[in-house]
Amino acid sequence: MAAPRAGRQPQNDGYRSLPLSGHVGFDSLPDQLVNKSIKQGFCFNILCIGETGTGKSTLIDSLFNTSFDDPVSTHFQPNVRLRAQTYELQESNVRLKLTIVNTVGFGDQINKEDSYQPIVDYIDAQFEAYLQEELKVKRSLFSYHDTRIHACLYFISPTGHSLKTLDLLTMKSLDSKVNIIPIISKADSISKTELQKFKNKLMSELVSNDVQIYQFPTDDETVSQVNTVMNGHLPFAVVGSTEEVKIGNKMVKARQYPWGIVQVENENHCDFVKLREMLICTNMEDLREQTHARHYERYRRCRLEEMGFRDIGPENKPVSLQEAYEAKRQEFYLELQRKEEEMRQHFVQRVKEKETVLKEAEQEIQSKFDHLMLMHQEEKLKLEKKKKALEDDMAMFNKKKANAELLQTQAFVSTPVVSLKRDKDRKKLLRGELDKIGCKITSSAEYDVMHISVSEHIDVSSLSTKK
Ligand code: GTP
Ligand code: MG
Repeated sequence: MAAPRAGRQPQNDGYRSLPLSGHVGFDSLPDQLVNKSIKQGFCFNILCIGETGTGKSTLIDSLFNTSFDDPVSTHFQPNVRLRAQTYELQESNVRLKLTIVNTVGFGDQINKEDSYQPIVDYIDAQFEAYLQEELKVKRSLFSYHDTRIHACLYFISPTGHSLKTLDLLTMKSLDSKVNIIPIISKADSISKTELQKFKNKLMSELVSNDVQIYQFPTDDETVSQVNTVMNGHLPFAVVGSTEEVKIGNKMVKARQYPWGIVQVENENHCDFVKLREMLICTNMEDLREQTHARHYERYRRCRLEEMGFRDIGPENKPVSLQEAYEAKRQEFYLELQRKEEEMRQHFVQRVKEKETVLKEAEQEIQSKFDHLMLMHQEEKLKLEKKKKALEDDMAMFNKKKANAELLQTQAFVSTPVVSLKRDKDRKKLLRGELDKIGCKITSSAEYDVMHISVSEHIDVSSLSTKK
């Protein structure tokens, strides 16, 4: 199930082996290494994936024999997020910087389709941070806090049935990025016979779906036997508890029920001890090594290839970093030029389009202006004709008025002033005469006009004389 491991067998490059005739001292190299490592301290990062309340925090507390005070999560998270907490632990003179990353809200959403994505992103982000540190000119990997995930404890609910789709999808999307150790949590809730069937079912499902889980290494003869046996026990069925119960004269971690006590560290009750042995005591360094040599290497290779770096060129010739850099630089330069040209063409096209639109608008405005001018001319002509007619009327009127005034003046001259002095009398006289010929006068203005026109036919002075 596990992929072949890299760099484990010492290679014989054809050098001669020579015996030493006396003590030299380099046999202390392993001790020097141990001393250096102890001084430097170790770091180990665990990712716990499991639905809310599956016992993640309790198990981690039980594994490290301490209380990490991890807050309890609610079931109402809108999406999955990861919570990382780092602790400094010490056992004898060995210091361990332990980071525990917990999934919060995993499996709580109605739509669980993308539940694994934040986890994938988190793991990739830690690889990317390490890669960026490695690529720095002035790098400080010695003091760098490595946050890459070394072990992923995948908590499977003790349903006794099979893996959920969410579990399969999540494990499948992570198996090339992290060492997955599947565990059946709260194993005290499943019977002994059911548990074995459940384990077999889970393993066959993982195989049939080609999910690569972490296999304890069997190529190191000091641990190969125990690791081979332990690989046969996967997935471990564990029970966690922070409660201590007195059994005999010893206090042990256990869970108490009305019908009995489940002891966490009793191998007849669960696989907790096996998990602790494998994860912490025997294979912690292998997990760290696998993370660096297999998962990180894969990530690094893909990223460098994405950036355009290659070890060999098109004709299988080795390519130096300088050549790869120059080739990529040239590629970027050409791409930049292509993009610039594309943008220029686009700009010219946009300007042309805008020009056409503006020209059309100009033509439209011009034709509207011409039309308005035409209407204005017509209106002007009409008004001029009207003006002419009114002026003619006025001239005629003024002529008549002048005639009437002339006649009036003559009439006044020839009529005794006394008898026709008052206009009222004149009007009355004229009205009487006009009535006789059937002509009605209603206003004073009409009288003036009628007086003028009647004066042309009637001798007003004679009328006044008659009176
Ligand atoms: P969140 O972080 O809130 O998602 O929960 P968690 O997965 O960390 O679970 P937690 O350890 O808080 O345990 C949830 C409940 O399950 C607690 O009441 C625990 O006592 C109980 N529990 C933990 N481990 C076991 C177990 O092995 N068996 C049984 N039966 N109950 C357990
Ligand atoms: Mg928790």
